[in-house]
Amino acid sequence: MSATPSTVTAPSAMLRIRPLTDHIGAEIEGVDLSRPISAAQFQAVNAALVAHGVLVFRNQDLPPAMHVDFSSRFGPLVGHIVKRFSVEDFPEVTYISNVKNDKGEMIGADRAGMIWHSDMSYMERPMLGSMLYGVECPPEGADTEFASMFAAHDALPESLRARLNKLRGIHDYPWHYATYLSHRKPLTEEEKAQAPPVTHPIIRTHPVSGRKALYLSEGLTRSIEGMDEAEGRRLICLLTDFSTQPAFVYRHRWQPRDLVFWDNRSTMHRATEFDNQYRRLMRRTTIQGDAPF
Ligand code: OGA
Ligand code: MN
Repeated sequence: MSATPSTVTAPSAMLRIRPLTDHIGAEIEGVDLSRPISAAQFQAVNAALVAHGVLVFRNQDLPPAMHVDFSSRFGPLVGHIVKRFSVEDFPEVTYISNVKNDKGEMIGADRAGMIWHSDMSYMERPMLGSMLYGVECPPEGADTEFASMFAAHDALPESLRARLNKLRGIHDYPWHYATYLSHRKPLTEEEKAQAPPVTHPIIRTHPVSGRKALYLSEGLTRSIEGMDEAEGRRLICLLTDFSTQPAFVYRHRWQPRDLVFWDNRSTMHRATEFDNQYRRLMRRTTIQGDAPF
């Protein structure tokens, strides 16, 4: 394995950026998210997000109000389609959790995101990024994996890339829910109506850097427009496997008080299994992006 690029200091912002793998992920040191960050720090964090796709901030005190404050510097926040998963008094903050309330109901989205996906890609204007904060994390398991869709794009054979350039994926939340989330209460008609299927280009341009990324996922891209349903599905699963080869993946092992901020425009991610005897309590915000092009 080749050596990971070394730490960079952003002088005016007084923060350090330490890449975690060759293609994806960086740890950010020298930022305290319990207080508003400076304009210079904001710019350095934003540039690091675009460059590295996933940013890890360790040992942060991040009550929901500050989570909202930091996230909303990057754009408007979008709450979960299922409103009962929200943190009390913070509709934009969602619990990702296996914890039950005293009525025995799940307080958050349980077993969310176990299949590779990019958050809410089924919206016309999907998420720019997401911020996930660990409150209680199992001592083992429940890692989150992230894949660089820049690296995947760049490694595609030229002929396949040319073919994919003309294609659009069909992103469909009700299909995803029915296929992968049958352990949960079914979506209501009203919830379904908020997320009709949409199409997006399979190769998208990052709006900040101009780099090209693959944009599809096994979890949320049902098929490919104009293609036989099963054939489109096979191609999506093949491209998901290709994109998630170990060299393109960063695996995050959670500690309580970690905040992980990822760019949904250039990465996919998935949750991994853990022993359900452990409590897992995470809080998440999602930041609205623009229509992919
Ligand atoms: C998410 C998600 C993965 C995890 O919050 O969007 O996919 O490990 N989470 O909880
Ligand atoms: Mn997710």
